[in-house]
Amino acid sequence: MSSPTATLSVTGSLNMDFVVQVERLPAPGETVLGHGFRMIPGGKGANQACAAGKLARGIRVRMVGRVGYDPFADHLKASLAAAGVDVSSVHATHSQPTGIAEIWVERAGQNSIVVASGANGELSPADIESVRNVYLSSSVSLFQLETPLNTVEAALRVAREAGAMTVLDPAPARPLPAALLALVDVLTPNESEACILLGRGPSRVGLEEAREMSAELRKLGPRAVVVKLGDQGCLYADEFTQLVSPGFKVEAVDSTAAGDTFNAALGVALCEKMALEAALRFANAAAAISVTRLGAQSSAPSREEVEAFLSERRSH
Ligand code: RIB
Repeated sequence: MSSPTATLSVTGSLNMDFVVQVERLPAPGETVLGHGFRMIPGGKGANQACAAGKLARGIRVRMVGRVGYDPFADHLKASLAAAGVDVSSVHATHSQPTGIAEIWVERAGQNSIVVASGANGELSPADIESVRNVYLSSSVSLFQLETPLNTVEAALRVAREAGAMTVLDPAPARPLPAALLALVDVLTPNESEACILLGRGPSRVGLEEAREMSAELRKLGPRAVVVKLGDQGCLYADEFTQLVSPGFKVEAVDSTAAGDTFNAALGVALCEKMALEAALRFANAAAAISVTRLGAQSSAPSREEVEAFLSERRSH
């Protein structure tokens, strides 16, 4: 069990997601008819914070980010607060609206996402300095790439100096500077992100290829790598260990935020000092449940749901 004061911090984006379900994703220049329009709280950072809040037991979850002065900001902060997340370090800016994302979800659960960053693009290294106390109290700090890269690097540095374990979800994927990657304890790409980080075209990756890629990714600087392989599970690699944690087959409705939910669960497990194998299984289970539901924060499971899912799978 973790100490009651352990803190997990999440630095990153908050977006209002505009979700439309479609039979199939449109080709360039094509119009397709969709249905089921919804506005759902999202943003990779906020999704991780929300899911962590729902999964955490005896851990404080804190979010660092920027929103605009508009009703979306209020909704997004309320969604996090309802999950038990401390939003006192989510500050508002007059210069930009709150971030939004347009999301199309097709029948088999795959999606296409376009993000208009808005206020997320205003999160600055100076903002990070102004909330240094958040990192000083954190055991684990989660990051993604929907805020400016120099801010991500500044936050990783502050978290490192503060002694927190740093976990970077390299999404949306882009090549990253060595100085930034050297500040990462655990890098968690999915298969296409792993390809992009290694300068290759995106492709489906099997377990054997993931093993080889994890070694190459570690050479870029992070201490450990977790390659997320969807329903194939994940592969963990550090200097001494390689571990495969099998995934769970579920009826996919929407894969939006499955990676965010995985990282949230991994962060919670690391904060609680779960054994590595259990931590990876916990993260795979949380992500699998999220895929069975529509939306980002709306799909994040509670701790009880993940535990019930795992004990049901154990008894089969
Ligand atoms: O990872 C899913 C998220 O990506 C969505 O919630 C959307 O806001 C984009 O940030």
